[in-house]
Amino acid sequence: MKVTWINKMVKLLILFALCAAVAVANPVVYTRADIINNSGKTHQLLVDKDNRSCLCLKNTQTAKIINRDGADMKLFSTSDCTGNYSQLGKGKTQNNAQWINSVSMGRSGVPSIGPYGCPNYFNR
Ligand SMILES: *[C@@H]1O[C@H](CO)[C@@H](O)[C@H](O)[C@H]1NC(C)=O
Ligand SMILES: *[C@@H]1O[C@H](CO)[C@@H](O)[C@H](O)[C@H]1NC(C)=O
Ligand SMILES: *[C@@H]1O[C@H](CO)[C@@H](O)[C@H](O)[C@H]1NC(C)=O
Repeated sequence: MKVTWINKMVKLLILFALCAAVAVANPVVYTRADIINNSGKTHQLLVDKDNRSCLCLKNTQTAKIINRDGADMKLFSTSDCTGNYSQLGKGKTQNNAQWINSVSMGRSGVPSIGPYGCPNYFNR
């Protein structure tokens, strides 16, 4: 009776260990940036760290953009991450960010994917 119970516990523990291993093998880690509008409201942009994404900000009013932890964030005046850009370093804040209509962030050295749509991030 007692042995059966211990067997069950051991099986459960092995199952938990397997689940944990799968979780570690497939972590979804995000690169984060904050956008702040004229009213001082903050919205966090999250991008899969393993991919580089372009996010359209044309319909989102941005006063400030803060790169929280992306190694390589680019700011564009176009709405599709094309043309000239300005680099925003890790931990840096871009003030007077109204001219920015798209950003690309995530992994370095790969082309960005997207943008998929152009929402107003403060109103959805
Ligand atoms: C800022 O965002 C909030 C919602 O988070 C919205 O209610 C407000 O109107 C926005 N202000 C401007 C100036 O866009
Ligand atoms: C990165 O993007 C590719 C192409 O869209 C996709 O197949 C892959 O699953 C993405 N990687 C992650 C970690 O989401
Ligand atoms: C990029 O910047 C250069 C130098 O300021 C300028 O000559 C060029 O027209 C710009 N290109 C675009 C697509 O804005």
